[in-house]
Amino acid sequence: MNEKIGVAGCGLMGSGIAQVAATSGFDVVLFDLEEDVLKKALSKIEASLKKLSEKGKLKEEPSKILSRIRISTDLNNFKEVQYVIEAITENEKIKLDFYRKIDALCGQETIFASNTSSISITKLASVTKRGDKMAGMHFMNPVPLMILVELIRGEKTGDVAFQKIQGLCKKMGKETIVAKDRAGFAINRILVPMINEAVWALQDGVATIEDFDKGLKLGCNMPMGPFELADFVGLDTAYAICEVLHRDLKDEKYKPCPLLKEYVDKGWYGRKSGRGFYDYRT
Ligand code: CAA
Ligand code: NAD
Repeated sequence: MNEKIGVAGCGLMGSGIAQVAATSGFDVVLFDLEEDVLKKALSKIEASLKKLSEKGKLKEEPSKILSRIRISTDLNNFKEVQYVIEAITENEKIKLDFYRKIDALCGQETIFASNTSSISITKLASVTKRGDKMAGMHFMNPVPLMILVELIRGEKTGDVAFQKIQGLCKKMGKETIVAKDRAGFAINRILVPMINEAVWALQDGVATIEDFDKGLKLGCNMPMGPFELADFVGLDTAYAICEVLHRDLKDEKYKPCPLLKEYVDKGWYGRKSGRGFYDYRT
């Protein structure tokens, strides 16, 4: 029988993680709060699989891969999984509530991996009785195309669980790096301050959004400029990461730019909401 993975959250990241897990032969339970968002995620996965299949990048038909993904709004379906990969909203309180619930529900051997971009794994594990079976498994967006997963050990993460998570990454065809459990870990300690600095520079009137992006793409060979990337990641998520960096690293250099907050307060979250630094509605 295939090993089973519960993926929590079917947004940008959870849908990609579910897709890659199913492509790698795992049975997947994809959990979110509403049926509607789950159905949309499934359509997105279907479209992505179709694209990859047309390019000859899949060993199986998309329909066979899709048949391994079951969507659910009932957390009880996590009782039967060997791994939970959590990719819910980047909010400490929401994540802590979630971990309290699944710790009481899942089998004692179930391993928990968080896709958090910035929040302490030790803190998330502290509300469970299985700190030894929990680690950070930070996938990159878009999950089906990006090869890297950043792994983070919490204070109590045990060797056995960590090696199993490393094995899981290998089965999913991903390369790994290991980072310490410090806010933002390795990748977002660098990437998100770059995005935040771009917003400060925009607020200072240094250049236009378009020229910043053109400059970083053509001048530094980045695949996306900072504003395109911010819209792609989600401004709500980028702002939440800035807040964690600022709070936990206790340094004013990480202060989130007020202009970024302004966008978030307006509900301009980027591509996922149709409007961010750019307008995607047309
Ligand atoms: N599934 C399948 N195919 C996909 C896809 C997906 N999810 N997303 C894009 N593609 C396809 C496109 O349809 C396109 O196909 P065609 O060539 O047939 O048209 C192909 O991939 C290439 O895409 P694009 O032409 O749109 O653009 P691109 O060549 O620039 O590649 C990209 C897209 C790989 C996303 C590239 O722009 C890129 O590398 N961007 C930067 C991504 C990045 O930095 N990610 C990290 C974000 S930060 C993070 O993840 C951490 C965090 O905690 C915030
Ligand atoms: P998103 O906003 O696209 O999706 C979040 C999903 O979580 C939504 O579908 C929401 O309904 C769901 N959710 C919220 N509370 C929930 C709960 N209690 N139970 C189940 N589902 C719940 O966010 P995202 O971009 O997919 O980010 C998810 C996680 O991945 C965050 O921790 C984020 O920091 C991390 N991450 C994001 C990126 C990125 O580029 N966006 C990259 C790497 C890691």
